[in-house]
Amino acid sequence: MADGYIENAFDRYKEGRSSTKRADARTLSSLLRKNRSYRGYDKRYVVSREVLENIVSVNELLPSAKNQQALRFLLVTRDSGADIVLRNIKLGGMLPELGLPIEGTEPEAFIVVCSTVPESKMLHIDVGISLQSMALRAVEIGYNGIMIGAFNAKNIQQEFSLETPPVMLLAIGKGAERIETERINVGGNKSYRRENGVHIVPKIHWKELILDNCRHSREISENKSE
Ligand SMILES: Cc1cc2nc3c(=O)[nH]c(=O)nc-3n(C[C@H](O)[C@H](O)[C@H](O)COP(=O)(O)O)c2cc1C
Repeated sequence: MADGYIENAFDRYKEGRSSTKRADARTLSSLLRKNRSYRGYDKRYVVSREVLENIVSVNELLPSAKNQQALRFLLVTRDSGADIVLRNIKLGGMLPELGLPIEGTEPEAFIVVCSTVPESKMLHIDVGISLQSMALRAVEIGYNGIMIGAFNAKNIQQEFSLETPPVMLLAIGKGAERIETERINVGGNKSYRRENGVHIVPKIHWKELILDNCRHSREISENKSE
């Protein structure tokens, strides 16, 4: 721990849970806005097992197909194998020239998501709900993260002696990147990019996400021809 800031932020969160003023400052919109995918972290901030437990605790309140609650979570901190997970992930596949994560800015900790049932459409929906809820909790308590689908599931299964290959990963740390969103129209370039050290993430204007039939069929045929 460098200067105790993170610990204090977490303590303040715990103390302020019942305070209405603090709750107001954490509206869903502000959490969603801050909840960007970080590929660079400030290594001075250690993520403890207690913090990971707090993040995973949101799962107790989530919807689940058939209420099956099949997800299980392996908590991996710096002391319990974060370096092993790091060797088996790929970050920033759309910016390969950057070789992310830059050495010295790797994620501090990981939540490895496993399942007690075979993978299926419903299970994957449960995983998405879980990951986004955990990511929002991380932001709420002063951390950041990134969902990781590009990883070597077989290696991670073997290294941690898991019964089945993990389904997804969530990296956690104190983000050390400047990230901005940019509004685009349907048909605009959706690829994220770096400009003067700022990570820019294009997002389609919500109004254009509402279906009108002509546009929907046009988009489907455009996607087919890509
Ligand atoms: C299911 C899923 C899998 C992802 N897998 C990876 C990954 O393997 N590596 C990576 O760098 N980013 C990954 N991401 C992060 C996306 O690239 C990121 O969400 C996207 O660029 C938009 O940025 P934002 O999250 O800041 O809005 C993943 C995101 C999701 C939802």
